[in-house]
This record gives sequence, structure tokens and C-alpha cells, in this order.
Amino acid sequence: MTDQLDAAGRLRHLLTLDGLPAPMLQRLIERARTFVPPAAAAAPRGRELEGRTVANLFMEPSTRTRVSFELAARRLGADVVNIEGSAASTVKGETLLDTVYTLQAMRTDLFVIRTAESGAPAEVARRVADDVAVVSGGESHLSHPTQGLLDTLTILQRKPDLDRLVVCIVGDIAHSRVARSAAQALRTLGVRELRLVSPPELKPAPHEFPGATWDSGLDRMLVDADVIMALRIQKERMSATEIPGASAYREQYGINRTRLARARPDAIVMHPGPMNRGIEIESDVADGPQSVIWTQVANGVAVRMAVLLTLAGRSQAR
Ligand code: CP
Repeated sequence: MTDQLDAAGRLRHLLTLDGLPAPMLQRLIERARTFVPPAAAAAPRGRELEGRTVANLFMEPSTRTRVSFELAARRLGADVVNIEGSAASTVKGETLLDTVYTLQAMRTDLFVIRTAESGAPAEVARRVADDVAVVSGGESHLSHPTQGLLDTLTILQRKPDLDRLVVCIVGDIAHSRVARSAAQALRTLGVRELRLVSPPELKPAPHEFPGATWDSGLDRMLVDADVIMALRIQKERMSATEIPGASAYREQYGINRTRLARARPDAIVMHPGPMNRGIEIESDVADGPQSVIWTQVANGVAVRMAVLLTLAGRSQAR
């Protein structure tokens, strides 16, 4: 893996949360808190990235991540270009690296890359100029670091004592970069207990989630949970034989009000989006009082402002 840190131990790229030290995670999260506007207040804006250019290269579909990186960059004064896989010259045979070199020649300072190709963001990070940074906007099933940060921020806003929390992640763990990045951040920051629930065919390799417990029985795993995170079935990463039937999945793994009652009364419900309502989560839970799903979305902009400023900021930011 490309070293994400420079020789002085500062963040140089953000490709994964795996291995990042707790103080660095805490600094990013604390910085993100400064960009969370009070209720009903206007979105915070600054000029810190004026003269900088951020390129969003999204080779897989995205709504939340791409738009929030764009808003984050614009709210800090940067120029932004958006390249989407279906509309890029990669469909004419250009490699991702040549696309990066092309945009780098136009003085891009930071690339956000979403790709289904494992290792691609690290490869780009190895090849860009010394003063150019790379951020993963989601890499295959492996990593979604800014999602992990925004999920952790959302949990900490409601429940500051991670060392007392039981977090239960439910769904397609095997194919989920969201689960991996959340687990890495929560483990590093000292979560008390991490439970993983999935159908047996979507069970992750244990070494990818050290310290977590896995079970296929949702009802018993929800008991006394403080945080429930429902995941989408990642059909795009499965073979036809692996894909569970929607109604059977809903029956066994869907988060509904009856199931939610097994968790702690003040448990929060999360989902990274996009949601499949009526499959992994019922609408009355997604839109109910325990849901923090829209807070996750809002925090996404704040986290991405913090990350962009840390990596592309002119001053002491790195
Ligand atoms: N959570 C997430 O990554 O959503 P998008 O695919 O819409 O970016």
C-alpha cells in the first residue's frame, strides 16, 4: 500500500483509514465538526482553497460522495471539475492514469477517485506529482475513508463515549467498503463492541474485521445495540448465484420497528445510502425519530471540507 503519510508523519493522501493513528482520525473529525453548521444556519464558506483545483473522477455511480466533495471544494473556494466514467475518455480506451496526467497538466491539485478497481487510487497516488494529493471516494469493496469518518462523526455527535458502545452493522458485509472503513475507524478509536450480521453467504473474512463478532442471526445481535448500521446489498459486486432474494432478505435482515425495539431505546439507526426502502430498511425506521441518516449526509460535506483542507490547504493544514 502507498504510504499515506509524508516523511514527517503528516497526511499526504487519504486512501484508507486502516492504520491511521487515532490522533490523526480525531484531528480530522474535530476539524469536520468546525464545518457542521448550527441548525438553520447557512453552510460555512471560506476562501482557503482559492486558486486550487479539485478533480472528482468517479468511475462508479455516486450521488452523496460526488456532490458532497464538489460542495466541500466550492465552499472552500476551489475550482472543481467532475469527470464521470460514462462520459470520460476512458470509454474510448484512455487509462485512468492518462486521465489523471491530463488533468494534472491542467494544474489539478487534488484528485478524488471512485473506482471498482482495487489498488487504483494507490497506483494514482504513487504516480502523481509531489504536490498533488489523492483521496479515495470509494475503492471497490475495500475502502471508503471519508464515509468511515462521517459515520464516526455522526456516532460521536450522539454518543460521545465510544468505549461504551455496541455497534451493529447489518447486511452485505462481504462486499461493503463502508463497513470496512467504519470498522477501521471505530476499532482505532476504541469502540467497545462491533457486531457484524449478514447472511452466511455474505460473511466477511474474519481477518478483515479483527476484534468484531459475526453472526447470521439478526435478532440476537440487535439486543442492547447502541448503533445499528444497515447496508445495501451490493449486487454490482456479486455473481448471480450470490444475490439473495429481496423478500427473503427483508424477512431475515430488514430493519423494521419490531427489530429496532430489541436494541437500546436510544439506539440510533444509520444507513450510508443509497437505501433500498422495503428491503434492508423500512421507511418508518429510515424516516423515524431514531434515524440519523440525513445527519450522515450533512456530515459528509463537513468531513470532506476537513479532508480537502488538510490535504490541499496552503497553510499549516497538513
Ligand atoms: N454512501 C455513498 O457512498 O453514497 P454514494 O454512492 O451516493 O456516493
